Amino acid sequence: MKGTRTIIQVENLTKNYEDLVAVDNISFEVREGEVFGLLGPNGAGKTTTLEIIETLRKPTSGKVIVDGLDIEHDSWKVKSSIGVQLQDSGFYPDLTLVELLKMFAGLYQVEIGDPIEILKKFSLEEKNKSYWQKLSGGQRQRFSLATTLIHNPKIIFLDEPTTGLDPQARVNLWEEIRKIHAEGRTIILTTHYMQEAEELCDRVAIMDQGKIIEIGTPHDLIEELLATGFKRKREVKKATLEDVFLQLTGKHLREE
Ligand SMILES: Nc1ncnc2c1ncn2[C@@H]1O[C@H](COP(=O)(O)OP(=O)(O)OP(=O)(O)O)[C@@H](O)[C@H]1O
Ligand SMILES: [Mg+2]
Repeated sequence: MKGTRTIIQVENLTKNYEDLVAVDNISFEVREGEVFGLLGPNGAGKTTTLEIIETLRKPTSGKVIVDGLDIEHDSWKVKSSIGVQLQDSGFYPDLTLVELLKMFAGLYQVEIGDPIEILKKFSLEEKNKSYWQKLSGGQRQRFSLATTLIHNPKIIFLDEPTTGLDPQARVNLWEEIRKIHAEGRTIILTTHYMQEAEELCDRVAIMDQGKIIEIGTPHDLIEELLATGFKRKREVKKATLEDVFLQLTGKHLREE
């Protein structure tokens, strides 16, 4: 259910790495049940923003509330209530998928029932005795998505879930993400792929050089662009989020 309740509130968040301002005084909110996308080129500050909300990095200044909890004071409660897929997730290479799921269940102290059922949900049941390192890129991403759900979190963070996947594997992963969303979970994801954002996201924030330069539904952002008299150079019927990004920043995102 998509509601209007704010589930994540980010206020004046800044993160400096020595001299570098990686996240520059950004504010936004994520509503319960929506798929919210952080878009931007390499180095925009997406991972830093996400990992601060996930309580994995400390902000330099600003405030973040996750489901009513202040990350500064309640980081352990926040950790246990969210599901996180990191940009470069790795798993113990010499454990099978079933063993890995059991290990995660142990870490979270939850009962998961039959691990094969979890693998089935992500079309990985035939790989139950495989080691993580023997999986293809798409299978690894599906498996890591499965692990984010072990403790049944309300909010899921996905950092570039489809980067490096072939087009078919990407579309397959979109389906998995839609299923998770249909269960009523809130999803925050980052991506370089504008088409992915248009397909999956209810709202997006466009980031560049640590700042959020625009927030809205993909549809509204494209309409706003068209209202400025924008005409696409190439012979295509409609403008895309890629055009919005290019217009706002003067830069292309990574090639599709
Ligand atoms: N641990 C760190 N120490 C110092 N600088 C860092 C650190 N992590 C990130 N940065 C810098 O902060 C900026 C933002 O990085 P971040 O990883 O958040 O970007 P991103 O938008 O996720 O990029 P990508 O699309 O490449 O994943 C970059 O200039 C990066 O070099
Ligand atoms: Mg990143």
